[in-house]
Amino acid sequence: MYSRIAGTGRCLPERVLTNHDLERMVATSDEWIRERTGIERRHIAAPGETTADLAEKAARRALEAAGVTAADVDFLVVGTTTPDVVFPNVGCLLQDRLGIHGCAAFSIEAACSSFVYALSVADRFVAAGQARCALVIGAETLSRIVDWTDRTTCVLFGDGAGAVVLQPSAEPGILSCHLGADGRYKDLLYFPYGVSRRPEDAGHGEGAFLQMKGNEVFKVAVKTLEGIVQEALDANRLDCSAVDWLIPHQANLRIIQATAKRLGMPMERVVLTLQDHGNTSAASVPMALDVAIRDGRIRRGDLLLLEAFGGGFTWGASLVRY
Ligand code: UT7
Repeated sequence: MYSRIAGTGRCLPERVLTNHDLERMVATSDEWIRERTGIERRHIAAPGETTADLAEKAARRALEAAGVTAADVDFLVVGTTTPDVVFPNVGCLLQDRLGIHGCAAFSIEAACSSFVYALSVADRFVAAGQARCALVIGAETLSRIVDWTDRTTCVLFGDGAGAVVLQPSAEPGILSCHLGADGRYKDLLYFPYGVSRRPEDAGHGEGAFLQMKGNEVFKVAVKTLEGIVQEALDANRLDCSAVDWLIPHQANLRIIQATAKRLGMPMERVVLTLQDHGNTSAASVPMALDVAIRDGRIRRGDLLLLEAFGGGFTWGASLVRY
């Protein structure tokens, strides 16, 4: 038994913030942002609009695409690092909004890798016959923890949500998932406090904002992603030439180009969406997947390679027969 992607959906908040808008906020330029990152615009949640709001819209679209109703869902997992509240988890909030009760509902917090982590857990439940309709989501409102006066981070991030419905199948769907993490890198990309660690315990000058040593993250990301995509291919005894589409985490165009080059994949076979919404953390992979499925690039039977890398550090990859 395999789990198979039955439908996908996505949601971006309405408000768009362009590189030119940012030129008026910090000492940056459209040229710098496009050249160094590939990003052109990002979407920002409206005041009061939360991660669960975006997750709900993406979820409803995925359910519709899969031809199922919320009542069919028997497993719900949300990858997010920007939950509405500490608890109940976003899975429970979403479960309530969808009017379904009783099934497992939880969130997974692994920064930008949260969706790939969530997908791997849902895949195991579906493939083991313990779930028949799993809703897997990556949703974030990173704009809430970005310092809008810090040009080294504020130009990079945006808000959004992507969703996938997994169902059992005798035919191959998700072939394998590969996860990794290394907490030694905890100081390169982090948010300085939460509940147990209070604001007054945060380091001098950290503030209530996401902190990143971008240059150092970049180097480890490129190297680690090379390793994890190769691990996924080796585990399935597949060569990169078998992969139809690379669906990478959308953090930086240069990181994506490096992974594609390592795989020997032309950029035409890489789904790129970061120009339209920047780094949306856990939402980036499922949103890119949804874009390319809905515009007809990805077709049934195509082999997809999903990958992500983020704070922790955490990382993951998955080979999927769509
Ligand atoms: O999703 C989780 C994982 N996260 C990532 O993968 C992010 C990884 N890192 C990156 O994407 C890149 O490192 C950044 C896009 C964050 C930065 O690009 P970079 O090529 O590594 O630039 P840099 O940090 O080495 O900075 C180069 C210069 C610096 O100026 P000096 O010291 O050379 O005078 C920065 O101060 O660019 C300057 N700079 C900017 N200039 C204009 C940094 N941010 C900006 C900005 N506009 N927004």
